[in-house]
Amino acid sequence: MSIKPASKRPWSLRLKLLLGGLAAIIILGLALGLGLGLTIGQNGDDDDGDSNNPPTSTRSPLPSPNTTLPWVPRVNDTWQIILSHPPLLSSNDKATTPNVSIFDIDLFDTPTETIKQLHDLGKKVICYFSAGSYEEWRPDAGQFQPADLGKNLDGWPGEKWLKVGNENVRRIMKSRVEMAKEKGCDGVDPDNVDGYQNKNGLSLTQDDAIEYLSYLSSIARPLNLTLGLKNAGDIIPVVLPVVEFSVNEQCVEYGECDTFQPFIEDGKPVFNIEYPKGAGEGEAQTHGLKDDVMEKFCERSGGAAASAGFSTVLKQMELGGWVEYCDGKVEVTAVNATVGNRGQSR
Ligand SMILES: *[C@@H]1O[C@H](CO)[C@@H](O)[C@H](O)[C@H]1NC(C)=O
Ligand SMILES: *[C@@H]1O[C@H](CO)[C@@H](O)[C@H](O)[C@H]1NC(C)=O
Ligand SMILES: *[C@@H]1O[C@H](CO)[C@@H](O)[C@H](O)[C@H]1NC(C)=O
Ligand SMILES: *[C@@H]1O[C@H](CO)[C@@H](O)[C@H](O)[C@H]1NC(C)=O
Repeated sequence: MSIKPASKRPWSLRLKLLLGGLAAIIILGLALGLGLGLTIGQNGDDDDGDSNNPPTSTRSPLPSPNTTLPWVPRVNDTWQIILSHPPLLSSNDKATTPNVSIFDIDLFDTPTETIKQLHDLGKKVICYFSAGSYEEWRPDAGQFQPADLGKNLDGWPGEKWLKVGNENVRRIMKSRVEMAKEKGCDGVDPDNVDGYQNKNGLSLTQDDAIEYLSYLSSIARPLNLTLGLKNAGDIIPVVLPVVEFSVNEQCVEYGECDTFQPFIEDGKPVFNIEYPKGAGEGEAQTHGLKDDVMEKFCERSGGAAASAGFSTVLKQMELGGWVEYCDGKVEVTAVNATVGNRGQSR
């Protein structure tokens, strides 16, 4: 059985880099061809080829909500993320493995009982769902309409980008957030809100993403659910007031951690995931990654300095039970392999 990674980040970045590269070539060509003294901005990697969007920095931040949440995570909180299968706890367990304070788990696949067990062991639970993509294996997939669906997510069979402004999409997501409340989740981690960075076939813009985050906040907050922002670095300055944490993939790998520092400055944690080559395999499975790899991904000798204050986990792309922390501790959470794996076991 082939395991499909749970992250879209690598793909969208590759596209971004490719587009950036093409744009650079075209701009260079024009500049040379026209003989104009074109000066090229230093910050070329911020260009997503999305000329319809004003730079986010010109938009003012969304208003701060006027209510407080019963729980918000704090900078330096420890966590584990497992999306391939639900964690498997036994009623005798006196602590979780690892004994971190927060678990980020799949909303649909994780039984209510497991969430209760995590709570009984003093843990907070963040429930993951895809808010910006259609996943054909989800139990509510039949509720989406053709007009809601855009292009396939390249490399992610069975997934399509969603028109996040559509009434029907929002109604379905509201039900998902209500399910998170019923299951006892403390927060939600809505993925794929950055469709605007990808070939989505729906003309999604940064503004669409900003309005969507505002909508998600308006449905999650009254239910006391803490809302996170997944990746989507471009819209941080605007949406920061309505989100309580960041879940980021590979900012060290791609040298983008600076973009996420505003969370730390605002007293909100950045839950950072890196996918080093060899993670969870061979020698690393029990003994952890080699020192040079740890130096690269962890804030040690300065290589990952921009990730200061982030809660970094080193994971395999499938986001299974294996995890290594920057202190070198390796842990494996038991999972229920008969459930999940992106619908493949259904
Ligand atoms: C709080 O914010 C909500 C939503 O923005 C608004 O409807 C409500 O009137 C506000 N309440 C107060 C007391 O300002
Ligand atoms: C988080 O941990 C780092 C490293 O121990 C420390 O320097 C920093 O002050 C901590 N931040 C907060 C907000 O606790
Ligand atoms: C596990 O963490 C909890 C807090 O969530 C703490 O009370 C408990 O002592 C820890 N247990 C072990 C075995 O470390
Ligand atoms: C939210 O939490 C507050 C306490 O912090 C509580 O009074 C309120 O009833 C809760 N609302 C919901 C919908 O759970």
